[in-house]
Amino acid sequence: MAKTVVLVTGAGGQIGTVLIAALRKLHGNMNVIASDLHPMESNGPFELIDVTSSVRIAEVIRKYKVTQIYHLAALLSSKGEANIDLTWRINFISYQNILALAQEHGISKLFFPSTIGVYGPTTPRIMTPQNASFIPSTVYGISKMTGELWGEYYRNRYGLDVRSLRFPGVISYEVIPHGGTTDFAVEIFFAAKREGHYISYLKEDTRLPMIYMPDVINATLKLMHAEQEDISTSMGYNLASFSLSPREVYEEIKKHLPELTIAYQPDARQKIADSWTETTDDSLARSDWGWQPEFSMSEMTIDMLKNVQV
Ligand code: SER
Repeated sequence: MAKTVVLVTGAGGQIGTVLIAALRKLHGNMNVIASDLHPMESNGPFELIDVTSSVRIAEVIRKYKVTQIYHLAALLSSKGEANIDLTWRINFISYQNILALAQEHGISKLFFPSTIGVYGPTTPRIMTPQNASFIPSTVYGISKMTGELWGEYYRNRYGLDVRSLRFPGVISYEVIPHGGTTDFAVEIFFAAKREGHYISYLKEDTRLPMIYMPDVINATLKLMHAEQEDISTSMGYNLASFSLSPREVYEEIKKHLPELTIAYQPDARQKIADSWTETTDDSLARSDWGWQPEFSMSEMTIDMLKNVQV
């Protein structure tokens, strides 16, 4: 069997930082190539890659004889609205190029992170089905939905093994996310420990689906190691864990830090959040490859408070 050599784009981001460590544990440090637009610390091979350059990605694939790609590089929903052309190029054109390169270089598996951002105002808000009306309202959502469709096309036309998850807002303590609409669920933990006060940019009762980082890693690795015949779609699988609003996470943290205070000053991100949904039906992920989250909101809160460094 050919040796597994993994390339991860956007390795310095919120998910990449943690996923790199998990992949290196599995495949060995030297067999996981971290890449990012900016230099980063890496206990294995690292390459500077601007994902908008297909030539550069091809160079790295050839240099290391890459067999699998995790294409994490992306701009998130809120930041994406500030530069829609760049967001389209980073989030979609780069992925279109990577699909073509994967096909050309015989890549055996490709991972594409999708998002709850593919949902839109016409999507059912409660227990959002795997397939529904998805008319995203941000360029981030449009680029991810288009990416999902292209992955499915490559699977059907060329048999490319593309796997994807619609991630909820990701909560973690290692790297603070920037430019997303779900960032409040991370920021509040840092603010709680640092200032004892948080100003939420969303209204108190805006509930969004969330997931804790260890479950992100579990889901990704479980999906990528499932048998190919168990994967019934290359569209992003709906993935649910827990949902929370700014007030709910505030009250949960307050159980441990009773001094914490909060204020609500909704900004432009409120409109994006309002176009997303509250809970998702992830029964396909559960039945296809056995998805099961481990962390509840209260377990996540305890673990975050233990680990957040300010
Ligand atoms: N965390 C992302 C965002 O808020 C959603 O996938 O943009």
